[in-house]
Amino acid sequence: MAILEVLTYPDERLEQISQPVEQFDDELRTFVADLEETMRAGPGGVGIAAPQVGRTQRIVIVDVSVKPKIKHNGRMLLVNPEIIEWEGYAVGREGCMSVPDYTGNVIRAERIVVEAVDIFGAPLRYECEGYEARAVQHEIDHLDGLLFLDRLVSRRNDLFRRKVYQKV
Ligand code: NI
Repeated sequence: MAILEVLTYPDERLEQISQPVEQFDDELRTFVADLEETMRAGPGGVGIAAPQVGRTQRIVIVDVSVKPKIKHNGRMLLVNPEIIEWEGYAVGREGCMSVPDYTGNVIRAERIVVEAVDIFGAPLRYECEGYEARAVQHEIDHLDGLLFLDRLVSRRNDLFRRKVYQKV
């Protein structure tokens, strides 16, 4: 396995629309293992999307199980994910491996249902809420070329410079 280079804002490759995965082969599985290792090596390490390492395909990994006292589904590998239900809205602070020096307040749905397929192309369905729902929405945004910076209500009031990386 390998830790991949993470692209950072304002790299234009982060603005591209990612393509659906069509080949479920060993090459994909090797890439996903590397993507997960890269996520776990990074500060914050609770989610990553393939375009963050320069591969514009619709693949995300979310695992918020390290956060205490929240509901979660454990490790979720989502290939070709689609959010099919949204409910409620909440403001919360987000960070991103591609925006290492800042965090920001973003409005997200509080509860979602996401459908995807797994590494073999088999269907998956998850209900997510709170912090996990936020992480899934954040990562799927990467597949559409969006960063949390694009979701801030106000850059002046909702963007914060990090003093140190948050340890989890
Ligand atoms: Ni991100």
